[in-house]
Amino acid sequence: MKVTVVGAGNVGATCANVIAQKELVNEVVLVDIKDGIAQGKALDIWQTSGINNYDTRLIGVTNDYTKTAGSEVVVITSGLPRKPGMSRDDLISTNAEIVKSVTENVIKHSPDAILIIVSNPLDVMTYCAYLNAKIPSTKVMGMAGILDTARFRAFLAEAIDCSPKDIQAMLLGGHGDTMVPLPRYTTVSGIPVTELIDDVRLNAIVDRAKKGGGELVALMGTSAWYAPGAAAAQMVESIIRDQKRIFPVCAWLTGEYGLKDIYLGVPVVLGKNGIEKIIELKLNEDEMKLVNESAKAVKEVMSVLDNLK
Ligand code: NAI
Ligand code: 2OP
Repeated sequence: MKVTVVGAGNVGATCANVIAQKELVNEVVLVDIKDGIAQGKALDIWQTSGINNYDTRLIGVTNDYTKTAGSEVVVITSGLPRKPGMSRDDLISTNAEIVKSVTENVIKHSPDAILIIVSNPLDVMTYCAYLNAKIPSTKVMGMAGILDTARFRAFLAEAIDCSPKDIQAMLLGGHGDTMVPLPRYTTVSGIPVTELIDDVRLNAIVDRAKKGGGELVALMGTSAWYAPGAAAAQMVESIIRDQKRIFPVCAWLTGEYGLKDIYLGVPVVLGKNGIEKIIELKLNEDEMKLVNESAKAVKEVMSVLDNLK
C-alpha cells in the first residue's frame, strides 16, 4: 500500500513522518518541486525507523510523479503558507495554480486515489482539486475540521484541567475566521461541556479556536505544521484502515444543510471509499445562521477562483 504526500515542507514532512510512525502503509512517497528537499526529508525520516521501530519505507522525488503511481491516498500540501498579515484567502491565485498542476499529475498516475487537500485557502483549494481531478466528490476532501477541533479540545483541556483524549467536539463551516465550533455538540466523557465550564470562558475558547491558525502565524512567522500534519495523517488512517471514523471534513455538499455546490466542513464517515456519508446535525436557528454566514464567505472565495479560470 502506498500514500503520496505532495509538498515536502513543514506540513507535508510532518504528515509523512506520522504516517510512517503509525505504519499505515508500506511506502510513503514525498514529492516536492524544489530539488533535493523531498529526498532529504524522506531520508531523514527513514533514518528514524530504527529508533521509532517501524518498517514503512519513505522515498523522496523531485516532481517525478511516475514514482507516485498506484497510491491509495494522496495528501496535497504544496503551496505557500501564510505569513503575518496574510489571510488564508490571500494565497488563492498562487496556490490554485500549484494545486491544479499537482492534482492533474497525481490523477494521471493514480486514477483511483483518494485526495486529501491541505493547501490554503482550504475550502477553495479543495474545490480547485475537485474541478481538476474529475473524479467523484466523495474522493476529494479537505483537511481542516480535525485540526480546528483539536485546537478547541486542547484549549478546553487546559481550562477544565482534564485530558484532551476525553473531549469530543464537532465543528462546521469553512476553515477561516467564520468556522463554527459547536459547544452544544461538545462533551467530556459524555458530560455536556457546559456543565464543566461557564459561558464566558467557553465563549473565549470558541473565539480562540476560531483564530487558532492566526495565533500560531503571529508567533512563528509562518503557519503551523505539527497539528496540521498529524490531522491529515489521521484522515489517511481512517481511510487506509477503513475505520469509518466520524470527523469534521471539508466535503462537497449537494443539498445537505440546505447548501449545494460548495466545499464546506461537515461531519462525515471516513472509510476506504473516502467520504462514505455526510451526517446532517439538527442545528438550531443560531447555529444554522453561523453556518450560512460561513458558507457565504467560502462561496465568495470560490467565485474568485471561478473568475481566475
Ligand atoms: P511550506 O512552505 O513549508 O511547504 C510547502 C512546500 O510545497 C514547499 O516545500 C514547496 O517547495 C512545495 N511546493 C510548492 N509548489 C509545489 C509544486 N508545484 N509541486 C510540489 N511541491 C510544491 O508550507 P507548509 O507550512 O507545509 O504549508 C503548506 C500549505 O498548507 C500552505 O498552503 C498552508 O497555508 C497550508 N496549511 C493548511 C492547513 C489546514 O488546516 N488546511 C494548516 C497548515 C497549513
Ligand atoms: C492553520 O490553521 C494557517 O490554515 C492554517 O494553521
